[in-house]
Amino acid sequence: MSYTADHLLLFGATGDLSQRMLLPSLCALHADKLVSDKLAIVGTARSDMTDESFRNFAKDALDRFLPAHRKGAIEGFLRRLSYQTLDANETAHYHDLAAKVRPDADGLAIFLSTAPSLFEATITGLQASGLAGERTRIGLEKPLGTCLDSSRVINDAVARAFPEEQTFRIDHYLGKETVQNLLALRFANIMFEPLWNAAHIDHVQITVAETVGLEGRVGFYDGAGALRDMVQNHMLQLLALVAMEPPAQYDATAVRDEKVKVLRSLRMVSPEETVRGQYGAGAIDGKAVPAYASELGQPSDTETFVAIKAHIDNWRWKGVPFYLRTGKRMTRRVTEIVIQFRPIPHSIFAGKGARAEPNQLVIGIQPEENITLTLMTKVPGLDRGGVRLRPVPLDIAMDDAFAGPQRRIAYERLLLDLIEGDQTLFVRRDEVEAQWEWIDAIRTVWEQNAITPKSYFAGSWGPAAAVALAERDNVSWHE
Ligand code: BG6
Repeated sequence: MSYTADHLLLFGATGDLSQRMLLPSLCALHADKLVSDKLAIVGTARSDMTDESFRNFAKDALDRFLPAHRKGAIEGFLRRLSYQTLDANETAHYHDLAAKVRPDADGLAIFLSTAPSLFEATITGLQASGLAGERTRIGLEKPLGTCLDSSRVINDAVARAFPEEQTFRIDHYLGKETVQNLLALRFANIMFEPLWNAAHIDHVQITVAETVGLEGRVGFYDGAGALRDMVQNHMLQLLALVAMEPPAQYDATAVRDEKVKVLRSLRMVSPEETVRGQYGAGAIDGKAVPAYASELGQPSDTETFVAIKAHIDNWRWKGVPFYLRTGKRMTRRVTEIVIQFRPIPHSIFAGKGARAEPNQLVIGIQPEENITLTLMTKVPGLDRGGVRLRPVPLDIAMDDAFAGPQRRIAYERLLLDLIEGDQTLFVRRDEVEAQWEWIDAIRTVWEQNAITPKSYFAGSWGPAAAVALAERDNVSWHE
C-alpha cells in the first residue's frame, strides 16, 4: 500500500545503533528536507526518561556522531522527538505509546532495534494496543535468529501481525551506495553482462575485512561468530547481487526474486572448502592489540574469521568458485569484490614480456569507493622482436566522479524507504531462510568434522589455511 508514514516509533532508541546510526540518519534526512514536516519520531526504551531528557540524550548522540556540516539542523530535528518508557512485556506501556500517536496519523513506521528475544512480546503488545494496523510498517534489525529454526520463530511471530508487504528486514549493506551501484554497473552498461558468466569469468572474490575487534559486544558476538554475523547476511547479499540474473525491472519483487534464486542455488560446502580463524594478539597500524580470548576474558571456540569456497549450481556459474572471506582484526578495513576474468583464448604476441594477463575488475565498496578494471596495454617503446605488454588500471574513484553529492549513512536510505514503503533494499523472508539454510549446513559440517578456529595474528590477512584454500586452485587473494 503506498503511503508515507508520518510517525516513526523507534524501539531501542537509547541503544548503540540508535546513537551512532539511526538518530544521525534521521537528523540528516530532516536537514535535507527529505522527510515531511509532519513526521513525528517517538523513541522507546526501558529507561525512565521524559521527552526533554530524551531530547538531551539525542542531542548528545548527534553532537558525537553527526558530521559537522549537518549540526545546524539539530535543534529543529529535536523538536520532532518525544519519548515513551516501554518494557516489552508490559501491555499498559503499549497503550501509553499508542496515545502518543496523533489521532490523524496517516501511517506508522516502526523500527525494532532491540534484542530479537523481545520481538515476540513487542509484536503482541503492538497488536493489543492497535499499533499493528494495515498502515503500519515494521523494520527489523538483525540478528533475525541464530539458525533457520530460530529465524522461522521470529518470522512467524512477525507474520502473525504483519504481512510480508509490511515487513522490512534490514541488511544495512543494501543501504550502501556502492552496493546499490553494483546493479547499476551490471545492468546499466552493455559491456559487462555478455562476459558475466562461466565462459569468461574464472572466479570471484568477496572480501569484507575489518580492523576492529570485539568492540565490547561480548555477549552477542561470542554467541554468533563471523559466519553468522557477517556471511549469513552481508556477504550473501553481496554474492547474490553479483551473481543474480538481470531482473526485468528495479523493484522489490523482481530484484528479490532473482536474488533468492541465487541463494537457493548455493551448493553445500565440503569441510576442505571452509576455514575458521580466531585472532591472536598482534598489531594494527603499529599498535599492539590483544587476542580475542583476552578481550573476551576466557577461551572460546568462536570464529572471528571465515573463508569459504562457494559454488553456485546453475548454468551461468557452472565451475566458477566464489571465494568469500571476512574477519575482524585484519590488516586493513576493506570491502571489495574481485571479478577475475579468464585468459584470452589465444595470444598473437610472442616474445619476452608479451604475456597477456587476464583482465580483472575490482569493485571497492569501502572505505574507498572505486571501480578498477585492469587492461593489458602495449608498453610504449621500440622493442625489437615483438610487443611488450603490461596491465594498466582503468580507475574510477567515485569521490572524484561525484564530487557534489555527500556520502550518506546506509541507514538514511533504509529509514527513508521504510517511511515511504519501498522494499527493494530489504530482505524478503524467503531470502533470509535460504541464507540460513546454507549457513546451518556449514555449521553442521564444522561440527561433524570438529573444525575449530585456527589462530591468526591480529593485523594479518587471516590464517595461513585461508591462503592455502585459494592457492590450491592457483588463485591468490587480492590484496
Ligand atoms: C554488523 C556486524 O552487521 O556489520 C558487525 O554485526 C560489523 O560485527 C558490521 O562490524 C560491519 O559493518 P560496516 O558497515 O562497518 O562494514
